[in-house]
Amino acid sequence: MKDTIFLIGFMGAGKSTVAKCLEQNYGRRIVEMDEQIEAREQMPVSRIFEEKGEEYFRGLETELLKELGEEENLVVSCGGGAPLRPCNVEIMKKNGRVVFLTARPETVYERVKDSHNRPLLEKNKNVSYIEKLMEERKERYEAAADYLVPTDGRTGEEICREIMKKIQEGCR
Ligand code: S3P
Repeated sequence: MKDTIFLIGFMGAGKSTVAKCLEQNYGRRIVEMDEQIEAREQMPVSRIFEEKGEEYFRGLETELLKELGEEENLVVSCGGGAPLRPCNVEIMKKNGRVVFLTARPETVYERVKDSHNRPLLEKNKNVSYIEKLMEERKERYEAAADYLVPTDGRTGEEICREIMKKIQEGCR
């Protein structure tokens, strides 16, 4: 069975941090979807949205996930919108475990407030907008997830240990 770990969750849920911990502690190769897409397109995500539009970006996400599905033993830090397309979720489920990292809107706000490469939040960087968008997406994140892991007030190491424990226990 293929055993890639797909980390999903809202922007600022801690996917990149946790992916790094999994790489350091468990020797998994990381793929950071946004970084990979930026390298291929030779421009930041914010410019891809601006110049080519969100649908184009979503298409790139699906293409990349199809390729990653061919590999093994990765940890993939998915873009926050990746689980919104059912075909993307299908790829994830077929090729490994899907871990949904959760965070409260206030925590997300603190984590994203100084960054400028999240076009969906750029003009709406406040707790109530984050809460609204999170609520809209919640059902789809939950439906995609094998495991749900809260991140508020916890270190990357703690989260990483919980994920590996769940995976080793084999519970879905
Ligand atoms: C998005 C999340 C971002 C990035 C893009 C769209 C989303 O990734 O893919 O800005 O729709 O939630 P992160 O979750 O890594 O910030």
